Amino acid sequence: MPLPSHGANAHQLYQRLNIPIPEMVIDFSENVNPLGPPDFVREQWESYANLITKYPDPYGEPFLSAAAMYHGVSLKQILIGNGAAEIFASIAIRYQHKKVVIIHPTFSEYEATIRPYGAVIKEIIAISSLPMNEVLSAVENADVLYICRPNNPTGYLVPLEEIIQIATAAKRHDCDLVLDEAFLDFIEEQESFIPYLSDFPNVIVVRSMTKMYAIPGLRLGYAVAGKATIDDIRSRLPHWNSNALATTIGAQCFKEEEYRQHAIHFARKARTDFTQFLEGLSCRVLPSQTNFLCFQLPDPVQSNDFFEYLLAKGCVLRHTENFKGLDGNWFRVGMKKEDDMQHLKKELTTWFEESLSL
Ligand SMILES: Cc1ncc(COP(=O)(O)O)c(C=O)c1O
Repeated sequence: MPLPSHGANAHQLYQRLNIPIPEMVIDFSENVNPLGPPDFVREQWESYANLITKYPDPYGEPFLSAAAMYHGVSLKQILIGNGAAEIFASIAIRYQHKKVVIIHPTFSEYEATIRPYGAVIKEIIAISSLPMNEVLSAVENADVLYICRPNNPTGYLVPLEEIIQIATAAKRHDCDLVLDEAFLDFIEEQESFIPYLSDFPNVIVVRSMTKMYAIPGLRLGYAVAGKATIDDIRSRLPHWNSNALATTIGAQCFKEEEYRQHAIHFARKARTDFTQFLEGLSCRVLPSQTNFLCFQLPDPVQSNDFFEYLLAKGCVLRHTENFKGLDGNWFRVGMKKEDDMQHLKKELTTWFEESLSL
């Protein structure tokens, strides 16, 4: 039976594999900021109650203006979504019966949203650096190319120069480029493509507030692109698609510079420490720039045993069965607080000791 195809489904995993759920479970398969939402969310929680008695602003204010200001773009260049996931769903119809290029392994929603529209999908496999010649030649015949930057699940960040090169080729060949920057907040904002959008009407940047601000339950994401593209996507979205709680809290999140810097440093330190630990055990670790990383056991044949052993110990990793190019031979681990990372290291060390003594 296939395993659940998204992270953060720990209970389903235990049920499918028929493993009793341990008393303590740490879900390393989810990859939102482990530090939790900024303090103001809890401090001001009661004040948000009033918001639910009125319809929200149909354009997503006050978030729309806050996002435009944060990125230095005009209000007409932004579209607010009920999560980045809604943006992908509303973009997909643009590519009905069109030729789409997706670079795998990557977030499954690009393909999931596009398939129902009869798009013809070409896959390129790249677990770290892009095969630039293949990508550049693919855009010559495509209508759109999707790139996740930094990529989920690998954490790999395609260098900005390469993205500009790809966007330039795509523009020349009338091909759109959809750039998913859901995890870009964990790097510095100067890595974003948004400042370059004015030269590239063919590029749509999608952002999410879920990951950095640890608010997946609120649902808030946005697209930044040229006005004509934004108008086109908006024409297919429902009125009042974003809720007042999300847009009010989201607007305030942009002011949280200290919180953001702390989260960036935390993620960098956690992934550097964990990479060193894994490499010390002779695992292969993919170079990540964000708050999760992917690794492979020295002997990937042991992957299933290893995964189930850790589940039984209450450590849920993200399997990669449904990620093309990783095919279950790698694991994604979301960085967590120090105690949780120590617990995982302890269980990993025990597994390695036990499997070496066999
Ligand atoms: C790369 C990537 N983009 C977008 C999303 C969806 O984000 P949102 O919660 O804003 O819908 C996810 C969720 O896991 C993701 O991994």
